Amino acid sequence: KVERTFIAIKPDGVQRGLSGEILQRFERRGFKLVGLKLIKVSEELAEKHYAEHRERPFFKGLVEFITSSPVVAAVIEGKGVVATARAMIGPTNPLNAPLGTIRGDYGIDIGRNIIHGSDSPESAEREIALWFTPEELLDWQATI
Ligand code: CMP
Repeated sequence: KVERTFIAIKPDGVQRGLSGEILQRFERRGFKLVGLKLIKVSEELAEKHYAEHRERPFFKGLVEFITSSPVVAAVIEGKGVVATARAMIGPTNPLNAPLGTIRGDYGIDIGRNIIHGSDSPESAEREIALWFTPEELLDWQATI
């Protein structure tokens, strides 16, 4: 089934110059970019995005980090993209992430794990609506 998922290259990924490399992995896998922007995340957006972690001890640090410098936010589309993008990203803790996954290849620690990807179709729908307006999502077909 053709689906959409949300990914965000976090401040550490952008600062380390990995944005292009990461987007390229998804493009080469055959996923289509339907939304893309560089944004300075507000505290309000960060708190909504990470609402499920509100009670965790690392919540404050998480919000501080994601709002600290620009993030590359994207929506990608393709068959099974929610699960496949998660597999390409790898486990939350880079120490457990296999080589060949984005976190396994580039991640340093659990709080600096390069990229976020929606964990389910329901999360994808919620996160896409939170980060993008409908006008920012483009429906387009390859013609070459
Ligand atoms: P992400 O996929 O963006 O979703 C929640 C984030 O919380 C996760 O990636 C990690 O960056 C962060 N996180 C999860 N567990 C911890 C932890 N124990 N300490 C610090 N950050 C964490």
